[in-house]
Amino acid sequence: MKQTKGKAKKETPQATGFAISEYPDTKEVYRQLNKLINSPIRTLKKEALESYEQWFHRECKKSKVMIDEAVKYIPGGVQHNLAFNHPFPLVFTKADGGYLYDLDGHKYIDFLQAGGPTVLGSNPKLIRDKVMELLKTCGPVTGLFHEYEYLLAKKVSELMPGVDMLRMLGSGTEADMAAIRVARLATKKKYIIKMGGAYHGWSDQLAYGIRIPGTMHLEAHGVPRNCFKYTQEFYPNDIHSLERRLWLNKFRGGTAAVIMEPIGPESGTRPLDKDFNQQVRRLCDKYGALLIFDEVVTAFRIGLSGAQGYFGVVPDLTVLGKVLAGGYPSAGGLAGKKEYMKFLSAGIAGGKQKKALIGGTMAANPLSAAAGYFTICEMEKQNAAEKAGRAGDRLTRGLQSLINKYNLPFVAFNQGSICHLETVGTILLDVNWKKPWTIPATIKEAKERKVIMEHMGCAYMAEGIITLAGSRLYTNAVQDDKIIDEALKRFERVFKNIEGVK
Ligand SMILES: Cc1ncc(COP(=O)(O)O)c(C=O)c1O
Repeated sequence: MKQTKGKAKKETPQATGFAISEYPDTKEVYRQLNKLINSPIRTLKKEALESYEQWFHRECKKSKVMIDEAVKYIPGGVQHNLAFNHPFPLVFTKADGGYLYDLDGHKYIDFLQAGGPTVLGSNPKLIRDKVMELLKTCGPVTGLFHEYEYLLAKKVSELMPGVDMLRMLGSGTEADMAAIRVARLATKKKYIIKMGGAYHGWSDQLAYGIRIPGTMHLEAHGVPRNCFKYTQEFYPNDIHSLERRLWLNKFRGGTAAVIMEPIGPESGTRPLDKDFNQQVRRLCDKYGALLIFDEVVTAFRIGLSGAQGYFGVVPDLTVLGKVLAGGYPSAGGLAGKKEYMKFLSAGIAGGKQKKALIGGTMAANPLSAAAGYFTICEMEKQNAAEKAGRAGDRLTRGLQSLINKYNLPFVAFNQGSICHLETVGTILLDVNWKKPWTIPATIKEAKERKVIMEHMGCAYMAEGIITLAGSRLYTNAVQDDKIIDEALKRFERVFKNIEGVK
């Protein structure tokens, strides 16, 4: 580059393609979270909560009428957990870029981002146009092969280090089920060890150790206990708890796979030490277990090569979802090395080995394949993961300074565009099986803290911010500084309404 004489060279940060500019200092995050969980809960002043609730009743009348009617036909009134909101869910009619619009005409800054898939922002025109074009010619489904299925599989294989092949499926839940079946078939071993606290979909065998590590079957209502005969969990950041299990399993059927989210359970709400994935990889190799990364949230959002690219750790199987279909329906896929993916082969590529029974009418369809393909190509062109990450950095730094300004015990940290705002720290509660009499109290406490989190979510929404359950915020590539700064002003209004703030 030509240097201008006398002028200092301006440093422009090198593009990395990754959403994470600086990995969280996990020791410091846990120190703060421990302090939060051991301090009295700080929530909204009573009159502030009432005033926010009144806002809903006064300003969102059309939503209220529809939800009151919907509750007669839909359990709980909404079809998705994330759509629940205190005091009642709202009805949304429009999504555009960084914003959502409700039935009563209010505009919100959207940090839910549909639970993660929309890194380019909601409903981007470019993708919509491609999808419309496809719908005009082919419609959403034929049951037969379409070129976009090949293009998407090729693109993902080129981008992700652990991926030679991709099998599209209908959801992340299905892809997780497929992953453990393939792992068992490939290794001829039985046990699956998952990281405690993580959500790998709602299938029987993986509904184990959900949200709070150590809870084992306690949250798996409706699942017979013996479904978990070969499912186990280990504690985040506790490599010894994993090795103990791997070692014991050697004598009773072996471990087929270790499955984990590479940034930590619940999208990194309990962040993992940066070298933890590497340690798990080493143990999997030592004990002959496959390493499955559930990258339903992290693939493409952390970077086009996924969290595996960021950490430089190659899993044997990768579970995909969300961004894989660019925010369009049927978002799921199992990807991995050829030697394992061969157990899924169909038709002409079928070999002599046994096949895992995996599929689905809508598993691969032109609509989700085209939406995913064009989304990933466009993300590459726009360097979208990194841009969304910078928005997440700005939001998190802003929240941290508000927390300091109002001397609150809250904790904010982020892994790029995945931001966490912990006001009650439920995720840090641990179930202690050495003192089983304490377990009911822990579960009760988690429920009470969740209610308070819902109150915070209600306040954020009344101030025009949508979050994931009041504690997680996904940013996207079109949320520029202006949008983030506006969001911070709104968060500040909520923080001013916390008990004890003058
Ligand atoms: C890490 C992880 N795995 C799996 C799933 C399940 O994906 P789906 O909702 O598409 O079934 C989710 C959903 O949020 C997830 O976050």
